[in-house]
Amino acid sequence: MDRIQTRGNIPLCGEVIIQGSKNAALPLMAAAVLHRGTTVLHRCPQILDVEYMSEILRGLGCMVRREGGTLIIDARELSAFCVAPQFATMLRASVLLMGSLLGRCGCARLPYPGGCTIGQRPIDLHLQVFERLGAVVCPEEKGIGVYADTQLQGCNLQLAFPSVGATENAILGAVLAKGTTVLEGCATEPEIAELCRFLNQKGARIEGIGRRRLTITGVTCLQDSQYTLMPDRIVAGTYLLAAAGTRGNISVRGICPGHLGALTAVLQKTGAEVKILRDAICMNAGEAHLPVPSVQTEPYPGFPTDLQSQLMVFLTGADGESRIEERLFESRFLIAEELRKMGAEIAVDGQSAVIKGKNRLKGGIVRAQELRGGAALVAAGLMAEGETVILGSHFIKRGYEDICRDLSGLGADIKEL
Ligand code: UD1
Repeated sequence: MDRIQTRGNIPLCGEVIIQGSKNAALPLMAAAVLHRGTTVLHRCPQILDVEYMSEILRGLGCMVRREGGTLIIDARELSAFCVAPQFATMLRASVLLMGSLLGRCGCARLPYPGGCTIGQRPIDLHLQVFERLGAVVCPEEKGIGVYADTQLQGCNLQLAFPSVGATENAILGAVLAKGTTVLEGCATEPEIAELCRFLNQKGARIEGIGRRRLTITGVTCLQDSQYTLMPDRIVAGTYLLAAAGTRGNISVRGICPGHLGALTAVLQKTGAEVKILRDAICMNAGEAHLPVPSVQTEPYPGFPTDLQSQLMVFLTGADGESRIEERLFESRFLIAEELRKMGAEIAVDGQSAVIKGKNRLKGGIVRAQELRGGAALVAAGLMAEGETVILGSHFIKRGYEDICRDLSGLGADIKEL
């Protein structure tokens, strides 16, 4: 049961309601550790990364249970500050426990975080943040320890690059620190604003939400809360691109359309008709399928790196040549090789990929090697002639609740094997 089979060449049509956001759920789960009490997260996606994070929290002494779409975390009995490697090495977001454990206990020990195989993913910026807040960083054989003798101390901090994780760790470290932290050069991804809103609802004092400069005034404790997670913009974008590739006509519902501005701009350039509603995007790809001369991935609000593979798949069907430049991760063209097996013409040169469109993909056996690339291969299968088998579907389950359910609801011929 680690495979997905598709039969392609059917335009996707209809409506799909989008799950809660993975990249919002994981930092909120880490943040729950800061509070000696209960956190209730509604619309928490039922995905593997949330399960791994739940196991990590249980290993630290928290009680975590699920009731349908709701996750309940009780961190009163937190009894450890050392994160075991079993699950931590499976997801990148485990590194966020450094900020929250440091804030709650004054120390944290973690193995090097895992996550997708999309190149080197250093954590130097995270560690600089902790040092500026007054902690000592001790590299260990298989991980890192961070320790603070006294309460963390608010400070002025400038991030050299708007790293999502480093911004989140800085927020988590500063919420219970003494005094005020001014954080400049922050990432502005919607998931960071979500973390700030969640923490403020718990009694934190964060100002400047959504901007490059955040001011965090330390508080002594947080309170119990219930929070409904934002929809997953990357899942929504995946389905829009998959539908565009099949020349379909779909609506993604229950979303924040503003979070997908960079994608809708690209879709419009390709000739798709895009209608933006208050909480939905309706897209009719029609027959036009123009190439895109140049797209760069960039920090928000630029085009998201997490939709780059799905875009590449879509562009294999465009009427001409497109170029993608990947500016965030250095090895994020892993699917190019798999797509070539399906007949795509893609030339990769360092951080650039040139995609010669108009070759209809042919079904085949391909292998997912990471989460978003895996979802992109499913989209490729839906565009291709004949049958495609995507191996390694467990990668996709890290971030998609049930990609087969969602896509078959849009008329796709898809099943898990
Ligand atoms: C988060 C997202 C991931 C998304 C990425 C970029 C989560 C759980 N993951 O990952 O899905 O692809 O944002 O939008 O939210 N960097 C350093 N040093 C550091 C930290 C980062 O050099 O200390 C570099 C990274 O190697 C990478 C770039 O900065 O090249 C972006 O990384 P970052 O924004 O930190 O992404 P993540 O938080 O890991």
